[in-house]
Amino acid sequence: MSKITIDTDTSRATPKPAPGKRMTAPKIMARKRRPDGSGEPLVMLTAYTMRMAQLLDAHCDMILVGDSLGQVIYGLDSTIPVSLDMMCAHGAAVVRGSWHAMIIVDMPFGSYEASPQKAFESASRIMKETGCAAVKLEGGEAMAETIRFLTARGIPVMGHVGLTPQAVNMLGGYRARGKDDSEEAKILADAQAVADAGAFAIVVEGVMEEIGSAVTNASPVPVIGIGASKDCDGQVLVTEDMLGLFERTARFVKVYHDLGDQITKAVETYAGEVRSGAFPTDAQTYRPKS
Ligand code: KIV
Repeated sequence: MSKITIDTDTSRATPKPAPGKRMTAPKIMARKRRPDGSGEPLVMLTAYTMRMAQLLDAHCDMILVGDSLGQVIYGLDSTIPVSLDMMCAHGAAVVRGSWHAMIIVDMPFGSYEASPQKAFESASRIMKETGCAAVKLEGGEAMAETIRFLTARGIPVMGHVGLTPQAVNMLGGYRARGKDDSEEAKILADAQAVADAGAFAIVVEGVMEEIGSAVTNASPVPVIGIGASKDCDGQVLVTEDMLGLFERTARFVKVYHDLGDQITKAVETYAGEVRSGAFPTDAQTYRPKS
């Protein structure tokens, strides 16, 4: 892995890596675990900003600039209003903050469903403006033709099946999928169609565990689970969820650190010190050298 030095050319010094080799779609595909489950699982997290990308990069095989930024960054109710402009701005920031992980940018609702041509226009804009290595889009059988069109034209595509948040108005909410036989069969058929169409990897979200395992076993490409199964070839979480920044999260989230609580305590201390005059001290004050 690249050596990191501290870049002090800017007003906020952050790690600046020596140029290194990034993860690529073929490298990710080669990480499909063997049928006995051996092989190291792939690590993926979301990031929407340069600094978060810097902090995650060395530990992740893939960083997803998810359209979950609609709720996490913009306070929207769903991912439906997320725009291509938003995805391009945040995608470019994440690429600037990373050097090792493969960066995948979500295609927002409305930017790809109408036709393969429309999808190519949107995906090529995302790739040109951000420098990312792949796009992700939601949907199974209905999106197979589009995935085939994009991959044949040099755009690596990650699929997303199971609970697909952009379809919340059709699904009627965010409940786990695959609770009956017809839903289960549909999820398996969707994953198969996406893999057959040339996706380099597939996210499977919010499904019964046995479906997550079955999709993984049947898929020739890596399956990345989020609320799916530990048998998946890798796992992804929304970083702000696993860092404890939200009071309510889905059952599949494990909170690794209560950063929300830490931020609240730090801000309370700062506010108290400003009000009492304890901040700033001499250490934070400029004076002429004597
Ligand atoms: O938008 C997103 O963050 C995602 C992940 C939850 C997989 O699609």
